Amino acid sequence: MSVLSGKKILLGITAGIAAYKTASLVRLFIKLGADVKVIMTPASKDFITPLTLSTLSKNPVHSAFFDKKDENELWNNHVDLGLWADYFLIAPATANTLSKMANGTCDNLLLATYLSSKCPVYFAPAMDLDMYLHPSTKESLNKLQGFGNTIIPVASGELASGLVGEGRMAEPEDILAFIENDLLSALPLRGKKVLITAGPTFEAIDPVRFIGNHSSGKMGFAIALAAANLGAKVILISGPSNQEIEHSFITRIDVVSADDMYKAAHQYFNDVDVAILSAAVADYKPKNIVNQKIKKVDSTLNLELTATKDILASLGEIKKHQFLVGFALETNNEIEYAKGKIQRKNLDAIVLNSLKDKGAGFATNTNKITIIDKNLNVKPFELKSKAAVAKDIINEIILRIGSEDHYK
Ligand code: CTP
Repeated sequence: MSVLSGKKILLGITAGIAAYKTASLVRLFIKLGADVKVIMTPASKDFITPLTLSTLSKNPVHSAFFDKKDENELWNNHVDLGLWADYFLIAPATANTLSKMANGTCDNLLLATYLSSKCPVYFAPAMDLDMYLHPSTKESLNKLQGFGNTIIPVASGELASGLVGEGRMAEPEDILAFIENDLLSALPLRGKKVLITAGPTFEAIDPVRFIGNHSSGKMGFAIALAAANLGAKVILISGPSNQEIEHSFITRIDVVSADDMYKAAHQYFNDVDVAILSAAVADYKPKNIVNQKIKKVDSTLNLELTATKDILASLGEIKKHQFLVGFALETNNEIEYAKGKIQRKNLDAIVLNSLKDKGAGFATNTNKITIIDKNLNVKPFELKSKAAVAKDIINEIILRIGSEDHYK
């Protein structure tokens, strides 16, 4: 999944020959799952038709303050368009438009929308070599950067005039890559590695039977997605779960038993910055796995169980710089038990679920948590969707890994 997926992109097109490349640009944004609206300056329509762009963007294309349709005149509200956008890209951005935007001129719809937009703005300049090198163009670009806008570097090569040099608009793929990288570099978990355990474990009794539990994996998968969406590279170690997840930053490792999960968690732990152990690991497993299917012989059957290794506690013993988070499911005396676990297992924080709370637990799509940190600060949260709970958990971790206190 791209950082641009689900985002609203406003594309402003001005009158440069590179305008013909905006058809590809719109397609690439749509392919990544973004929603695209296009505003064209009147003169840019000589280079590419609004019909092409409305077909590709699946949205009407605006160019004037009023659309004349039959008897009705529709006002294109530039303020609404500006506020709609998550990101505003002006491509190609001609020397004329750069200069007008740098100076607050607003005599067309695109310029007025720029003045009223509040989102991050990217410019992909396109012009001839000498226009690009002119001090007035440099001044416009500097001014726009001073306003907090971002300039996507021009490419070098053959220009429409036949001259060769700097001034070509960056290729559509490069514009997208630039914006994606720029957004990623601003994400709070960029460069961080996060290990997450999720789901149940199955402990084999014989070749056809096992001891398991009702954990769906939903909470852990939601945490993995929340962390990846904030730029983290995630190792998601999952017990048997039918949850699906697709994100280029998430590596899923499927395991079955507590022993498998222990091995996988230890394999990756040294290399991560944060570990969140949300899996419902079996506390006991059959002492001996029977090789053949157990036959029904007597009216009772005794299974001897032995404790599994506590993955969380074992990571607490070896942790150095890692921020280690455990989960606790309690039925009574919740806060005190959870605080005890933080100390016993050497955790940085614990996420507490109480079975007393309606809507919390395994199979639901909601959860109600309390986060307790190693300084024993207790923070209760409302009942929320598991996706929203996951964001709360990740935000609380970000607040703490950013603080000096974590490294004491
Ligand atoms: N956990 C683990 N490995 C185990 C058992 C549990 O990593 N073998 C982790 C879970 O992923 C979760 C936390 O420990 O983060 C939950 O522990 P829990 O079973 O609630 O606590 P226990 O210490 O086993 O205490 P009790 O069962 O007495 O509540």
